[in-house]
Amino acid sequence: MEVLKIIKKLIFVMALSCAILVSEPLNNKDNKIENKINNLLNKMTLDEKIGQMNQYSNSWDLTGPKPKDNRNEARYDDIRKGLVGSMLNVNYVKNIRAAQELALESRLGIPLIFGVDVIHGYKTMFPIPLGLSSTWDMQAIEKAERIAAIEASAAGLNWTFSPMVDISRDPRWGRVMEGGGEDPYLGSQIAKAKIKGYQGNDLSANNTIAACAKHFAAYGAPTAGREYNSVEVSMNTLYNIYLPPFKACVDAGALTFMNGFHTLNGIPATGNQFLVNDILHDKWGWDGFMVSDWGSIGELQVHGTAKDLKQTAEIGANGSTDMDMESLAYFKHLKELVIEGKVKEEKINDSVRRILRAKFKLGLFDDPYRYCNEERQKKTLLADEHKKASLDVAKKSLVLLKNEKSILPLSKNIKSIALIGPLVKDTDAGIGGWSCQAGDEKAVSVYESMERNLSKNTKIFYAKGCEIYGKERTRYDLKIDLDENKSGFAKAIKTAKKADVVIAVVGETRHMSGEASSRMNIDLPGVQKELLMELKKTGKPLIVVLMNGRPLTIPWTAENADAILETWFAGHMAGDAIASVLLGDYNPSGKLPMTFPRTVGQIPIYYNQLSTGRPDNNTDWPYLSKYIDGSNKPQYPFGFGLSYSNFEYSNMKIDKSEMRMDDILKINIDVTNNSKIDGEEVVQLYIHDLVAKIARPIKELKGFQKVMIKAGETRTVEFEISKHDLFYYNDKYEKVCEPGEFEIMVGTNSNDVVTAKFTLNK
Ligand code: NOJ
Repeated sequence: MEVLKIIKKLIFVMALSCAILVSEPLNNKDNKIENKINNLLNKMTLDEKIGQMNQYSNSWDLTGPKPKDNRNEARYDDIRKGLVGSMLNVNYVKNIRAAQELALESRLGIPLIFGVDVIHGYKTMFPIPLGLSSTWDMQAIEKAERIAAIEASAAGLNWTFSPMVDISRDPRWGRVMEGGGEDPYLGSQIAKAKIKGYQGNDLSANNTIAACAKHFAAYGAPTAGREYNSVEVSMNTLYNIYLPPFKACVDAGALTFMNGFHTLNGIPATGNQFLVNDILHDKWGWDGFMVSDWGSIGELQVHGTAKDLKQTAEIGANGSTDMDMESLAYFKHLKELVIEGKVKEEKINDSVRRILRAKFKLGLFDDPYRYCNEERQKKTLLADEHKKASLDVAKKSLVLLKNEKSILPLSKNIKSIALIGPLVKDTDAGIGGWSCQAGDEKAVSVYESMERNLSKNTKIFYAKGCEIYGKERTRYDLKIDLDENKSGFAKAIKTAKKADVVIAVVGETRHMSGEASSRMNIDLPGVQKELLMELKKTGKPLIVVLMNGRPLTIPWTAENADAILETWFAGHMAGDAIASVLLGDYNPSGKLPMTFPRTVGQIPIYYNQLSTGRPDNNTDWPYLSKYIDGSNKPQYPFGFGLSYSNFEYSNMKIDKSEMRMDDILKINIDVTNNSKIDGEEVVQLYIHDLVAKIARPIKELKGFQKVMIKAGETRTVEFEISKHDLFYYNDKYEKVCEPGEFEIMVGTNSNDVVTAKFTLNK
């Protein structure tokens, strides 16, 4: 009897531990969700399961009568039959409620999840992501995305296709504007801050939304910077550079991922079993769901890796692309494939489980209309405090690239200024590309804000000088039609001559970057450089304000302008942020998240290059890794950005020169603000693994701190390094930490650093 009891007990304990092992969730809430998912799954027909994996874009008036045209009428009915799991591009409470009502009419009444590209704000526009990244201020970034989520959720949404965490080393690619820049460490910190901002601490709250890490993986490296092109990156670079921000998203709890349009080393990212099954699910243990990019499952035919739409569905489903965005491959073929045994029903169950899990976590089963409150929508969108927050972060995103003889900031009582250039009065560029529901919203122009903030006695002269375009490019125009017309130059020169100082506001328009906006020439477009050259000839101090969505090649401007302020596209309040820096109300603190090349011939260009056997040592010896017609040096290095304060670094100390694997190494450095103005500095910490099994980058960012230092004060900034900062992925793609000598570098950008060394022991 006793023996029987013990055996029973043993069986019970074994069963329990098996249950714990197979069910990923750890806490009660998660366990409850898993039970609900299983119950629901048991009731679902195969058609209904596949339905969850099907996503439609909004293409009819959801609040009107049932659509009359065949395509939309069919889609309308598909939702009611439970054959659709999600919709994208449905905006605002009224429409979302209408679509949700259709879904709730279905047999099992499974609610839809609604996604939209909320890239840098929903209605209130924040700086474009590359600008946000220039803040190096994770709290500010989190706050911007928090507000984006508050607005999007107030408009009925529960899912954003953001953040884009694609590292990119190629500014020809238009989508660099949508990302965090070139560095995996900075990119990972930004990724975490964004996920936190969107998802908050409680996904089931009605003002948080699901994030979507995209485009898995390495989409930021299209060959030749050409949009949608194939990607060839070594496994070393994939593991050490492109994957870390995605891993950071997993660690931060990103609910969803999106794949990409590209092939990675020949294999499409969509349905890529190595990326999704092996790395994302098996290695990283992620349990969220993967949506395809728009039509990317269907495009497998065009890549030539599937013979027809049916085969694309097979590849997509077996590669754990859980949801098909608009290629209808699953809708048309998945059932057949399951019946034929080409896709196992268990694979479908896994995908559906992941999708339902997200819906449960968002609380959609508790109340499918939880985001649908007209009153709240009205109160929330474009709220004053959102605009104020947008202004705060916009100021932080501006990067001062040059300031000869401290010409900036200007006195508000300056006698006269000339504002010249095609973007001076522009109210469109600041809004930036991928601007979601900004619609006809206008950004504050530089002119308007300067006029408001300068003394009444200052004379402001204005001339446009030139256009950027002959005809403005909209998002859907194929070609840019740059304006070669210089007829406005004469007036611009005359205007410049009347003033004490010239501020030229030049750059790209907002639709010159973003998706489908690669450029092969990244100079100032049109005749803007010639305009600057003419302004320079007047002998007046020349301050250049840049608006652009990517690093530009501006060697002439860098050499000849007296000051340069990089402002990206700074959002709704762009003009106010820019004026506050020009007039000294805000001391600039932004730093570049991407290297500025001197010429396109240097691209790809990035600070964390691998060591070479023949590094350029600045001698005349030709047989070194360099060019015969120009320098290797970038125009502005990664991490660069000036301040009106003058920061000096001294007294770097490390608390030990030998470190064991489990030690923490402490690094202290004094940063003195040797000026009369309080300022913020981003103190950056880099390492160099001097001897490793595979070549390591000459510098890798491993920490940074943005600190406010009062005028005349010295602050000791402390960093800690542990083995977790010294790991890399080796030639077997294992995370290793190799004993040996390391260099530590601390400084104001990736180029200007002070150095120390330590040895890591076993
Ligand atoms: C295509 C883009 O690549 C992706 O980033 C975006 O989320 C989808 N379209 C949906 O708009």
